[in-house]
Amino acid sequence: MISTRTHIAGFNFDNCIMNAAGVYDYSAEELDAVQQSAAATFVTKSATLVPREGNPEPRYCNTPYGSINSMGLPNFGLAYYLDYVSAAQRQVPGKTYFVSLTGFNVEEDIALLRQVQASDFEGIVELNLSCPNVPGKPQTGYDFEAVTRILEAVFDLYRAPLGIKLPPYFDLVHFDQIAAILNRFPLAYVNSVNSIGNGLCVDAAAESVLIKPKQGFGGIGGAYLKPTALANVFAFRQRLNSSIQIIGTGGVQNGTDVFEHILCGADMVQVGTVLHQEGVAVFERLTRELKAVMAQKGYGGIDEFKGRLKTL
Ligand code: SIN
Repeated sequence: MISTRTHIAGFNFDNCIMNAAGVYDYSAEELDAVQQSAAATFVTKSATLVPREGNPEPRYCNTPYGSINSMGLPNFGLAYYLDYVSAAQRQVPGKTYFVSLTGFNVEEDIALLRQVQASDFEGIVELNLSCPNVPGKPQTGYDFEAVTRILEAVFDLYRAPLGIKLPPYFDLVHFDQIAAILNRFPLAYVNSVNSIGNGLCVDAAAESVLIKPKQGFGGIGGAYLKPTALANVFAFRQRLNSSIQIIGTGGVQNGTDVFEHILCGADMVQVGTVLHQEGVAVFERLTRELKAVMAQKGYGGIDEFKGRLKTL
């Protein structure tokens, strides 16, 4: 019997594939659909203190090798997602959910966490330090001093399971530097990676950019992203304390891609672009394909190959 079970922060999950906070997790309707699918669980859209409409449309476009988006963090505000999760916790006792949060400064991050603490939320918080799509706001994950300040303030206050979502890094020195910072904190996990920020996709026929916000600049997801995502998962697994788990996100289109993320060290795998393209049926397909890869290789569970990527 092949199992894709996993665990994050001491919580067990029947599957190791779930949605990513990003392009399919905005409304109760979308979250209901993820809940009713083969996904391990759900993570909410990154919530802010007050609701946001996000960037003007069109703000998402599929491309031959993936997608470009500049959603700009549209969300209904943290209270909406805490209410949704509270109802889910009552409906399915024992199941664990993720709430994604993002403040626009450390004070807002702390205010968001206080709101979580004041609620009946029992799951895992994901702090998004990597959205590339808010005009005028740099990606926090590239400012290592800011990351340090935020994590110091966060862990002064909050001791329940918390992970962070990071942007992709491209230089081995940057992996060394950011991992040294992260290893100082009791992080449950690192989620690598958010989209590659500020790519540009062009419609040659129309001689135009594809999306409206930020003159067409947006986060690149899908197949383009996979080598970068795998590099980040593998580089972090080599550098982070073993107590810090890894969620691998980026470029998953099929079960072999999920297998590769786990081989590089991911404990859970999230999907964004392919979920937006195919809808929640994708979770059943990816799980079936992952199990087929595992069966062909003789693996019964993901721990048998997790992090065991061979180097030459
Ligand atoms: C967005 O809302 O712009 C996408 C989510 C993210 O990049 O964190």
